[in-house]
Amino acid sequence: MTTNNRANFGSKLGVILASAGSAVGLGNIWRFPYMTGEHGGAAFILVYLGCVLLFGAPIMMAEFLIGRRSQSNTARAYQKLAPGTPWRWVGRMGVLAGFLILSYYSVVAGWTLEYICAAGLGHFADKAPADFVNFYNSFVGHPWLPVVWAAVFLLITHLIVVKGVEKGIERSSKLMMPLLFILLLILAICSVLLPGAGQGIEFLLKPDFSKVDSNVLLSAMGQAFFSLSLGMGCLCTYASYFKPDTNLPKTAFSVAIIDTSVAILAGFIIFPAAFAVGIQPDQGPGLLFVTLPNVFQQAFGGVPFIAALLAVMFYILLALAALTSTISLHEVVTAYLHEEFNLTRSKAARLVTGGCLVLGMLCSLSLGLGKDYTLFGMTLFDLFDFVTAKLMLPLGGLFIALFTGWFLNKKIVREELTNRGTLHLRIYGLIIFLLKFVAPIGIAFVFINELKLL
Ligand code: TRP
Repeated sequence: MTTNNRANFGSKLGVILASAGSAVGLGNIWRFPYMTGEHGGAAFILVYLGCVLLFGAPIMMAEFLIGRRSQSNTARAYQKLAPGTPWRWVGRMGVLAGFLILSYYSVVAGWTLEYICAAGLGHFADKAPADFVNFYNSFVGHPWLPVVWAAVFLLITHLIVVKGVEKGIERSSKLMMPLLFILLLILAICSVLLPGAGQGIEFLLKPDFSKVDSNVLLSAMGQAFFSLSLGMGCLCTYASYFKPDTNLPKTAFSVAIIDTSVAILAGFIIFPAAFAVGIQPDQGPGLLFVTLPNVFQQAFGGVPFIAALLAVMFYILLALAALTSTISLHEVVTAYLHEEFNLTRSKAARLVTGGCLVLGMLCSLSLGLGKDYTLFGMTLFDLFDFVTAKLMLPLGGLFIALFTGWFLNKKIVREELTNRGTLHLRIYGLIIFLLKFVAPIGIAFVFINELKLL
């Protein structure tokens, strides 16, 4: 592919929305609340915000600059910028991480499809909180239904990646993202107003450091990377389509702010409601799915039609947010196989989809039929999540920071971050300091401390 025939994103807003579309997804609305619930609430959120600012934002800029400078997929990017060096393994590890994430992410994305149907068919009307827990448990434990939904979700992703209708997606996200945001805001207000919601608000705002367990730093750091789509070359690939005048630092800040606001809003939906109806915040991956139906039910139960309509709308928007994320994951792996192994794009995409189908099926079964089979004390689903979000992404981020901060020619870094000197960037020195020292040392510290490496 030459520079000339690479597509560009249409507008400034398009650039931000496409990157935000990758970033905003189940990571914010499903994963962030359950991680926060498992790690003690407000204290976890504080650590998380620190990770977004100190590691997330600068590493996102680094990925952007690597992608735009090299104009290629993530593995080749390192080969171009650092020919003949082992840096290309950073790209390759990213591709593998993307493949593994897509496998279990599709499972949860599939759940949203079941919930669209259940809400639309009125299955949630007149139900009590315990019924929602039963519904979730019997659905997730079902031998084939969640597998079918995961397959449907993967196939939709596949078709979009092969047919290249991302343009349509880019256009529709301009409508979808604001709509999702407004709906989240409405639901957060409803949730906060539920009787008994106060404890949930306290859980979110009042840090209780005694609830913090030993794993909190690693989990918060992993969540920051996962939620911002960082550490595996996803945004690097997107940035290869950016224009020369795209302001990289500003785009990174915008994406980080949008992504973080969505996560915090999701927290304000889940925890007030969970405490109001007596759901334990440390439920694990089911938290969103057992809590949210209560918000629709309790706030709008008097008018079942409105409750069902809002619920269907919400799950559709959630599925679409997940879709813009699965597309970005699929694209990274497909582009890599296509460009590096001389496969046609559709063959490459078929390999990715097929592989994810098999792994996704195993992940899904590991929550139901295969519950008793564990590896290192985790189900396969949890193991995939742990290995990718808590190990591979931060490790990828560490290397990206080192690459940009120490290895890459300073002139290239400056040219890209300031658009060849046309942008006046007051915090340039700070960004470089974060990339050179703070991010690598911070990530290494968390690894050493929490994985007991020394
Ligand atoms: N960030 C997305 C979410 O929050 C998921 C995702 C898309 C992702 N691309 C990624 C996570 C790349 C890690 C790396 O749902």
